[in-house]
Amino acid sequence: MPLMTTKPMFDLAYDGGFAIGAFNVNNMEITQGIISACAAEKSPLILQISKGARKYANMRFLRHIISAAVEENPELPIAIHLDHGDTVDLVKACLSDGFTSVMIDGSHEPFEGNIKLTAEVVKVAHQAGVVVEAELGILGGIEEHVVGVKAEDVEKFLTDPEQAQDFWKRTKVDSLAIAIGTSHGAYKFKHEAKLAMGRIEQIMKTCPGLPLVMHGSSSVPQEFIDLINKYGGSMPNAKGVPEEQIYAAVTKYGVCKVNIDTDLRLALTAKIREVFATKPSEFDPRNYLGPGREAIVSMVRRKLQALNSVGKAEAVVKQWKKLGEPMPAYYKK
Ligand code: G3H
Ligand code: 13P
Ligand code: ZN
Repeated sequence: MPLMTTKPMFDLAYDGGFAIGAFNVNNMEITQGIISACAAEKSPLILQISKGARKYANMRFLRHIISAAVEENPELPIAIHLDHGDTVDLVKACLSDGFTSVMIDGSHEPFEGNIKLTAEVVKVAHQAGVVVEAELGILGGIEEHVVGVKAEDVEKFLTDPEQAQDFWKRTKVDSLAIAIGTSHGAYKFKHEAKLAMGRIEQIMKTCPGLPLVMHGSSSVPQEFIDLINKYGGSMPNAKGVPEEQIYAAVTKYGVCKVNIDTDLRLALTAKIREVFATKPSEFDPRNYLGPGREAIVSMVRRKLQALNSVGKAEAVVKQWKKLGEPMPAYYKK
């Protein structure tokens, strides 16, 4: 039952030219789709849960869905992670819910405030054997900031490599989400998709050994946007990060964790819209949620190729055994 922290994963990903896919879960179909894809590709994975997901699904339900996924796939290395935690209390709740990894997002705070919040979370999480991801810099498309902002100011929104080093030393955080031009959602770029790859390189230099994380990494596949727009939706100008750029960030620049939520939402929505439009008499949820789940499986399998994590599960389990991490109290609930 390799339910683990992200440490064994990042130990191998850091120098291994691959990244761990971190996928947001909100219900059974999404979880099943992700797990089936990772099992088929033998990829390690992170299932991440936001505050909103906890509220929507009720953590007790999500916990049992995830437990079932872990039981069904005893050979698959899985970490359970809090996405964008905002308070110490939320982190504590996740620790007692058996999460193996938490994110505290203090990126909206001034630098010193972010350090204080993150250091406090690191202290409580590490006592529980749980690892911590933090965020530094402002997430948002590069172009968004260019509009009305002097060219020399654009850099201000990206993660500063020297600050990252200071932040890491003072918080002892285990991984860091960096701002390099990605943003959340389906509208990431107004013009050409562009990431500040050089910035990853600089942060790798000032913070050697610190696993870096890319949020806002959905590619917003055109096939889903086309289906959505064809069948009654309206998502003009939706644009994501091309998968080649993800592949480069991972294999060339060393990013260790890549966050995906929007692409899961798009896959499910596109298929449900298609069924509703082409089969107007359909009212059995299994007949529209099922195709949605299948679309998630195919999308995630393709994503795992872009992350170069295909076939890496076994090596991660070996590393986990080598580290001798204790199993979290996940099954005791
Ligand atoms: O980065 C945010 C994730 O996509 C989670 O979104 O807060 O709507 O669950 P959510
Ligand atoms: P996307 O909106 O690009 O899927 O990003 C998700 C994310 O960063 C979750 O933390
Ligand atoms: Zn995010």
